[in-house]
Amino acid sequence: MKIINATLASDELSGLYTLTLENGKITGRERQDFYKKAADGDVNAGECLVTHGFVDVQVNGFGGVTFNDDPSERTLSVMEQAAIRNGTTRFCPTLVTCDEQKLRNAITATERYMTRSGSAVAGIHLEGPFISREKCGIHNSDYIRPLTDDTLEFILRHHSAVAMVTASPEMMTDRQMAELNRAGITLSLGHSALAYEQVVRKLDAFRTATHLFNGMRGIEGARSPGVVGAILDDHAIMAGIIPDLHHVSPALIRTAARLMPGRLYAVTDALCPAGNCGKPERFMFCDKELHIADGFCADDAGTLGGSVITMKDAMQNLVKIGIRAADAVKMTNEIPARCIRLGGYSAVPKEGECGDLLILRRDGSMTVIRNEKIIAEN
Ligand SMILES: [Fe+2]
Repeated sequence: MKIINATLASDELSGLYTLTLENGKITGRERQDFYKKAADGDVNAGECLVTHGFVDVQVNGFGGVTFNDDPSERTLSVMEQAAIRNGTTRFCPTLVTCDEQKLRNAITATERYMTRSGSAVAGIHLEGPFISREKCGIHNSDYIRPLTDDTLEFILRHHSAVAMVTASPEMMTDRQMAELNRAGITLSLGHSALAYEQVVRKLDAFRTATHLFNGMRGIEGARSPGVVGAILDDHAIMAGIIPDLHHVSPALIRTAARLMPGRLYAVTDALCPAGNCGKPERFMFCDKELHIADGFCADDAGTLGGSVITMKDAMQNLVKIGIRAADAVKMTNEIPARCIRLGGYSAVPKEGECGDLLILRRDGSMTVIRNEKIIAEN
């Protein structure tokens, strides 16, 4: 398959390009001298942007199902189909704080699912239960607990299926954190109530942070930088952010993007109503009944519990609030891919990389290409 008349999200690579795809990979990228007419089998990008599929490292539910409700291969299959249709070609099913048996079942179901050929699942994201009770948000605090060596040993035994673990530093020892890092699991700082002085000493152990600004101690004053201040002041840590324009003020998203160039990425934190499934008005999550209010999910007390956006919405929202389009694209594929050490997902696709591609058209529509087929237009 050839994608012709493509533009790329790069100031250096101007003009039009042809991308050649074979066996699910990009095998060529050539600059065109002129606008081409489409031959049989070509896909005409019509001078629109071609980039990699979205990578979402925090997806609680999608397409009408919730991973925590039933962390099984069946649930993963529904989430995967809905995700791919919406341009998310790699994602981390996210399990929030729960009991030990469910945690282990979810890991082994993910491990089995990832052996399927062409699986879009990039490994489970364990969001808790190793988190601060005071910043647990919608999580069920009954299940919050420190990491035991027994659980650690189970996680390490299945490390290839575990992409990410969100934790607050007081819930793990330095040795446990080092072992997770050695196994290539992305350790993410989140749901943490620690003070700046406590968290800053532990920051080197964390590759990234979970939903920056939400579920973490904020900047409380001129002498209390909190967890947020520690992250913004660091020069290495990455961070996910939820750009549904409900979880975080646009002013803070722009500020974080300026302070963390190349390190801030979008996550949806999506719940089951996301992904074109008729959006049920009320549903259960973390043993609480949630409803959709004005485009976000909350319980009856008003606690935010996740979003209903897709990664395309996330990217469009970032552009809407003033983030440069090329940076917004990177924040939805290249940077989250780097966070979980997933190669071949550059915002500017090149030879040798994965062939899961999107054509992002000026009217806001999108074509999803996977295994040399157009699998969705939306
Ligand atoms: Fe969370």
